[in-house]
Amino acid sequence: MRSLFHKTIALFLLGSVVVSCQDKDDPNYQYMPDMYESVGYETYGEYEVFENGQEAKLPVEESVPRGWLPYEYQDNTQSAAEAKENLKNPLLYTDDNLAEGKQLYTIYCAVCHGDKGDGKGILVEREKILGVPSYDDAGRAITEGSVYHVMYYGLNNMGSYASQTSIEERWQITHYVMSLKDQLEGNPERETVDAGSQTNQERLLPSRADVNLYDDADDVEDSEDTNTDNQTEIN
Ligand code: HEC
Repeated sequence: MRSLFHKTIALFLLGSVVVSCQDKDDPNYQYMPDMYESVGYETYGEYEVFENGQEAKLPVEESVPRGWLPYEYQDNTQSAAEAKENLKNPLLYTDDNLAEGKQLYTIYCAVCHGDKGDGKGILVEREKILGVPSYDDAGRAITEGSVYHVMYYGLNNMGSYASQTSIEERWQITHYVMSLKDQLEGNPERETVDAGSQTNQERLLPSRADVNLYDDADDVEDSEDTNTDNQTEIN
């Protein structure tokens, strides 16, 4: 009886010692650790099993990332002239687009070009940058196409805005820039139109107007043209 009593105490003490060493911040013992720690590859890791030796694959040639569409004009003078001549603003001249354009213009362009588009932004006044033209510069005779083109690629001291702005935003800014040009030239204000139920999305991608571009592509498998469904989003 006595020895059972002692054994119990000994067992209890031993138990306390073992339990007291447990550190709750550490993971517990793992049986069959493979079940816990998967052997997945590290993103961007180097592994011989892959064709080019790296985990991250390059996109298939000519694939188009979500939110982008290819811009068909190149970064050269001939292409710039073509864009200036032929490229038209696909967005309607609505109050909303103009207001959005004004806001974006104030954020991105006004520091150099000035709130009125006369080329007298704060950076010009402080002589931080030179050669910023006024939008009514007759020698340049800017058009919707040339404004979009210069935002896309930049021009000499002016950087490209292709990464900061979406297609939709660049066209909204373009509307606003053209309205500033009209004001500077003293032209009558262009009448805004009512878009009705038509969205900018539908204007930018008329052929895909039936597709809800913001839907998650969950049910892509069910749709017949799976390969184009996730390439047409614009935001
Ligand atoms: C860092 C100052 C700076 C900012 C910011 C800037 N620009 Fe410019 N922009 C310039 C300069 C400088 C030129 C003249 C480039 C040249 O002809 O060498 C220019 C030229 C232009 C032209 C005339 C291009 C042509 O066809 O001759 C347009 C249109 C224009 N900018 C629009 C914009 C718009 C829209 C934004 C905002 C998204 C913007 N710029 C932001 C400095 C700037």
